[in-house]
Amino acid sequence: MPQREKFGKFGALMTMAGSAVGLGNLWRFPYLLGENGGAVFLFVYLLCSFLIALPIFFAEFIIGRRGGENCFGCFSKLSGGSKWKYAGLIGVLTPAIILSFYSVVGGWGVQYFMRSCTFELAEFNSLISSVWPPIIGHTIFLLLTAVIVMMGVKKGIESFGKIAMPALFVLVVGIAIYVAFQPGAAEGYRYLFNPDFSKLDDNCIISALGQAFFSLSLGCGCIMTFASYVSKKDSAVSHSVNTALLDVLFALIAGCAIMPAVFAYGLSPTAGPSLLFDTLPRIFNQMPAGEIVAVLFFLALLVAALTSSISLLEVVVAYFVEEKKMERKKAVLMISVFAWVLGCLCSLSFGPLSNVKLFSLSIFEFFDKLTSDYLMIIGAFLTVVFAGWIMKRSDFEDEFLHSNDKASKRLLKPILLIIRYVAPIAILMIFVTGLCI
Ligand code: TRP
Repeated sequence: MPQREKFGKFGALMTMAGSAVGLGNLWRFPYLLGENGGAVFLFVYLLCSFLIALPIFFAEFIIGRRGGENCFGCFSKLSGGSKWKYAGLIGVLTPAIILSFYSVVGGWGVQYFMRSCTFELAEFNSLISSVWPPIIGHTIFLLLTAVIVMMGVKKGIESFGKIAMPALFVLVVGIAIYVAFQPGAAEGYRYLFNPDFSKLDDNCIISALGQAFFSLSLGCGCIMTFASYVSKKDSAVSHSVNTALLDVLFALIAGCAIMPAVFAYGLSPTAGPSLLFDTLPRIFNQMPAGEIVAVLFFLALLVAALTSSISLLEVVVAYFVEEKKMERKKAVLMISVFAWVLGCLCSLSFGPLSNVKLFSLSIFEFFDKLTSDYLMIIGAFLTVVFAGWIMKRSDFEDEFLHSNDKASKRLLKPILLIIRYVAPIAILMIFVTGLCI
């Protein structure tokens, strides 16, 4: 068997953060924030990210690095081949489904980027309900993802992440600073940072938690697979904490780039999924030098989405390459075709197939809900139970204490407590509440 590739230290952080930071931060977070009352959502989201999502991230990391294989391989190896190995299948179907609809939204990004270069931004609803433009966008997006993953772990994924993530940071911060100088922006900051707790309800909590999961790429083996490429010398604690910090930071910066602009131009923050695509171009139209800001913004969006979609594809590829002994190229091709077909159906569900309903949801909504509300939650549950109760305690502690940093030692007990009790109970509670709403 060929030696497995390993990330460098900086590359490891950039690829993990790359997986985490994506459409979830730039597109999903601002519109959920707008729909759920602004600052109060941010407050709950921050709590969920650090108290629940981070420990789950950590559990995935430990399993991945200890196992040193694809998701299925990790579960199988660390459980000594028991039935628990089947829990590893969370890293096959869920990410493939997420990839297909993620790529559709990525494809809208492709269209907006191409059109912003020629200064003719589309109207959101007419774009997504048409047949060919969104499918062409989806195809280009998936092709880009496939090419990077085909190039391999170090040459493709790591090299791209190391350039893309710092570039993304500069772009988004630049836009946020630009927006800060627009008259009327102050109202947006108030909306973002001044919580009104009377707006706190079940929906806000569930959405914030779901967003924290989605944004940290939890529950489908992404982090596990990437952690298996991280060197044993690196600290699991600092990697996890840094990734979570970067992820939250990007969500905050995205909020600061979008909300003040929405208020400065007198638009509504509650527009929903169209917020980014519909509202922003209108803002860009009115802004001085808006054409250039638009190009930069959609470029940033695309880069962020790509670093995430490659993580989704890589999890599944790693499974087929290592467990089914498939050639890397062939695996990439096969999964991409699957995601392309399913993605086309999702894309068409905004137009010609809008009447097709699965459990009274459109095809896109169905797969989005199926993964975010069920499969990822089940995946996260299996992950924490496995890390806390099934894998050998000595393996867990060894992975934890192996690194040189002293803070890790003190954190072992509290983190284990969260992984064994708090996280599984919290996940169950969300699951049940989600079913009841
Ligand atoms: N976290 C990414 C984002 O915020 C999306 C993503 C990548 C993801 N890998 C995942 C979501 C795995 C859920 C599961 O855009």
